[in-house]
Amino acid sequence: MSQPWSPDSWRALPIQQQPAYPDAAHLLQVEQTLASYPPLVFAGEARELRRQFAEVTQGRAFLLQGGDCAESFAEFSAAKIRDTFKVLLQMAIVMTFAAGCPVVKVGRMAGQFAKPRSANDETIGGVTLPAYRGDIVNGIGFDEKSRVPDAERLLQSYHQSTATLNLLRAFAQGGFADLHQVHKWNLDFIANSALAEKYSHLADRIDETLAFMRACGMDSSPQLRETSFFTAHEALLLNYEEAFVRRDSLTNDYYDCSAHMLWIGDRTRQLDGAHVEFLRGVNNPIGVKVGPSMNPDDLIRLIDVLNPENDPGRLNLIARMGANKVGDHLPALIRAVQREGKQVLWSSDPMHGNTIKASSGYKTRDFAQILGEVKQFFQVHQAEGSYAGGIHIEMTGQNVTECIGGARPITEDGLSDRYHTHCDPRMNADQSLELAFLIAETLKQVRR
Ligand code: PEP
Ligand code: CO
Repeated sequence: MSQPWSPDSWRALPIQQQPAYPDAAHLLQVEQTLASYPPLVFAGEARELRRQFAEVTQGRAFLLQGGDCAESFAEFSAAKIRDTFKVLLQMAIVMTFAAGCPVVKVGRMAGQFAKPRSANDETIGGVTLPAYRGDIVNGIGFDEKSRVPDAERLLQSYHQSTATLNLLRAFAQGGFADLHQVHKWNLDFIANSALAEKYSHLADRIDETLAFMRACGMDSSPQLRETSFFTAHEALLLNYEEAFVRRDSLTNDYYDCSAHMLWIGDRTRQLDGAHVEFLRGVNNPIGVKVGPSMNPDDLIRLIDVLNPENDPGRLNLIARMGANKVGDHLPALIRAVQREGKQVLWSSDPMHGNTIKASSGYKTRDFAQILGEVKQFFQVHQAEGSYAGGIHIEMTGQNVTECIGGARPITEDGLSDRYHTHCDPRMNADQSLELAFLIAETLKQVRR
């Protein structure tokens, strides 16, 4: 028998990674204001994403999840939202064609602000201040005033998320996502790519297919002109998340209406902790990051708590092992899941296990390691007879220089040119598209 759950039952349990707000009364006031605001998404949409997740889990679709490590107040513009959305669409079309199945698109967008940190403090030049925890908590500037957690930031994050989601909905439904247009962007990318020859074959075949559909008069069908797009973020600040718990008027079930999907980070997935408690009670599709410290027995216990009914659309396990650990750690986890007959959507986050420090001091990731982890993820699943259902990446549509490598290689020396991230290094547009084309080759083999 599971224990009773309520939107605030997490408050009685140990909790990791929360800011220390100096003004509790102000925080409470903000929580109440948030709870009175309209939700960002509605329960029916979260249910639809759950249905689509079930398709992925059962091998009939593929999941593409991507966006910033951390959204920021400073880099908030229509152009930035548009460019990230655009690259995700470009990646999706390549994968759809290669896999021969629908690609479910989920952005780390419209609410991905809060960051778990490895240390509570940061020390520079003998000065120690509280760590930056994302714009929803405090400021990135290294001065005392910026680093004090300010509850007002929860409100600003909410407003930025609503504006972002509004624009994403307009792009998805208003003609921007037209397949012909997305394909044309891909042709432009290929024309300028160092790997033009390698990719052009796949692009030519997409061209032929679109021409064929045009000839058949299927040009203006909504399936070609519109797309569905979902949002997700790490459910880290539970007072923010609790404020968006609503009871669905149709089913009476609880949903966290701050995003379609929420996930639990690798640092906050303690079985008896507050984050697992909170997410077990909301009916959204949810994710859990699974790093190298996870053991098979604990994974099964966690699955039992988060998905007691073994619903194939409920739970996304996001493996983030690191390219040199995935081969050692993932097989035993997959085997335990299979042995226990658990229905889960497995995806690969090839970013968080592959963060390194460049000699210049920048936090970076090597494109070759990112690709290496994804490839091994597919190989391990294939060897275990399990379905590799998706990828989860940190990327942006901007032309940043944060990850090294790629066909037009970014070197360690070049990192300082356009290093803009507020947290972890992201792939830029070219690197993301290159990854999509390389994954397409693997998908073609795996799905035949
Ligand atoms: C993240 O996705 O930005 C993150 C912090 O990941 P993880 O919990 O896997 O470390
Ligand atoms: Co990150």
